[in-house]
Amino acid sequence: MPTVISSQFASRVTLLRDKVESFAAYPFCLPAVRTLEQIDLHPKVTFLVGENGSGKSTLLEAIAISLGFNAEGGTKNFRFDTRVSHSVLHEYLRIAKGFKRPKTGFFLRAESFFNVATEIENLDAEPSFGPPVITFYGSRSLHEQSHGESFMSLLTHRFGPDGLYILDEPEAALSPQRQLAVLSRMHDLVRERSQFVIATHSPILMAYPDAWIYACTKDGLARIAYRDTEHYQVMSDFLQNPERMLRELLDRRDDEDQGGEGG
Ligand SMILES: Nc1ncnc2c1ncn2[C@@H]1O[C@H](COP(=O)(O)OP(=O)(O)OP(=O)(O)O)[C@@H](O)[C@H]1O
Ligand SMILES: [Mg+2]
Repeated sequence: MPTVISSQFASRVTLLRDKVESFAAYPFCLPAVRTLEQIDLHPKVTFLVGENGSGKSTLLEAIAISLGFNAEGGTKNFRFDTRVSHSVLHEYLRIAKGFKRPKTGFFLRAESFFNVATEIENLDAEPSFGPPVITFYGSRSLHEQSHGESFMSLLTHRFGPDGLYILDEPEAALSPQRQLAVLSRMHDLVRERSQFVIATHSPILMAYPDAWIYACTKDGLARIAYRDTEHYQVMSDFLQNPERMLRELLDRRDDEDQGGEGG
């Protein structure tokens, strides 16, 4: 176990609780933060899952900033700042790092991939001695590709071995087939010593076997087995018998509407 842990890039995130003055206000009041002591990161893949608004993005962003990424996303070389929206949480985190440093990395923010694409175009508009930045992203402007295509370009061309990747809902633009392709590409990168921390709602992505899943619930963060996640259970129940679930859901609405007319 210790040898595995020491070879990873980031092994533990600790909230410096003594520094926090109050847990009553954002971001410290969020379910994912309020009771947080520490999160042990899997040497390969760690998932954060949980309801909308439970604090996954806030936590992921703070981890990324703490690791030296630009708050708005991109590689560690990206320094653009279109809108200051990040919380102060990163100032309260300590991240235990391994003895090796990642050779590369990327912080993908769900909302600002567009800005990353623009930043690449801006960088390439400036004089430079090296090859254009876009060469590392498959040579075709990310603005000229669909959302899903540009993400796959990023994963195929820009992500590489010995990388540390922090991804917020990477499935957002992807068909189920492409999500399977992401799993396969992720596996290649893991075999090339890369590490991932991913916030996701995708029951496909979170099925990756060499991973720990942390669920953000109202009681805080807890490690959970894949089949115990709400995402797996709801999706599996639904797909096994969509008609039954729809009947329950829609009949209840009809009953409520009829009750409303009577009152
Ligand atoms: N600057 C802010 N000030 C106060 N509250 C905020 C701020 N930014 C976000 N929040 C709130 O914090 C909560 C957690 O947001 P966050 O984006 O971390 O959730 P999430 O788990 O990533 O949700 P989703 O699954 O929808 O992406 C939300 O209720 C949001 O409204
Ligand atoms: Mg989010």
